[in-house]
Amino acid sequence: MPFSLDHAVFFGRTWDECLGMYALKESDLSGIKILDCPGGPDALVAEGLTRGLDICAIDPLYDSKLEDLEARGRKEITDTMAAWQLDPDTAWGDHKAEEFKNLKLAALDSFIEAFAAHPERYIVGSLPELPFSDDSFDLALSGNFLFVYASVERGGLMSTDELDLDFHLESVRELLRVAKEVRMFPSFAVTGPARRQEFVDPVMEALRSDGHQVDLVPAQWVEGDFTEFNHLIRIRKAAGSGPAS
Ligand SMILES: C[S@@+](CC[C@H](N)C(=O)[O-])C[C@H]1O[C@@H](n2cnc3c(N)ncnc32)[C@H](O)[C@@H]1O
Repeated sequence: MPFSLDHAVFFGRTWDECLGMYALKESDLSGIKILDCPGGPDALVAEGLTRGLDICAIDPLYDSKLEDLEARGRKEITDTMAAWQLDPDTAWGDHKAEEFKNLKLAALDSFIEAFAAHPERYIVGSLPELPFSDDSFDLALSGNFLFVYASVERGGLMSTDELDLDFHLESVRELLRVAKEVRMFPSFAVTGPARRQEFVDPVMEALRSDGHQVDLVPAQWVEGDFTEFNHLIRIRKAAGSGPAS
């Protein structure tokens, strides 16, 4: 059965995966305010706090109970990877898939511990409207939600077109309203032929027209078999620009 999803799964990356995805070094992150949006069960806040960083995450599911998040994370990681491997068009080698899944389970463990210890760092909210004032953060990191949850026809994972181009434009402008710099990963299509996901160019063009500096930057992490078009999108807010409309 062809792989697709009907919602964004609760699935998160480890610290090393995240630094590689966003082409960041630990030293780039000290002394700045960082938002992870959406954080899901990734390890950025957990590991960031142990390194003394000023970091918080936001996700619509953070209003759930800890036990429910843990159960949901384990089930969605396991079920999603099983379905991914069952479709010959998406499957990776067994070893690569197992390794990838184990990293997601390790990230979930770090997340659960930090969510219990530092609940104030996990904020409930969702794109395209974030509960922060303008320029609340120096850097917003947004991984594996935008572009990934476009429809399968557009190179994403979803069975529907719910997260369309308008949603993407609104969400990216919202991230840039609350942060001075935004880094988003990935920019490649996660289904179909190797290519850039189809909303990437129009989003980059629109944000450039708004006056911001927009670049594709090579990622330093390869996810599964996605070796081509392996870039993050970096947007630096134009100096003196008002809230994005
Ligand atoms: C795959 S996780 C991404 C986690 C992490 N950033 C990473 O790279 O591994 C996707 C997350 O998107 C969240 N999500 C779903 N709808 C959302 C929305 N409208 N705005 C923000 N996050 C949303 C889900 O709850 C889920 O935790």
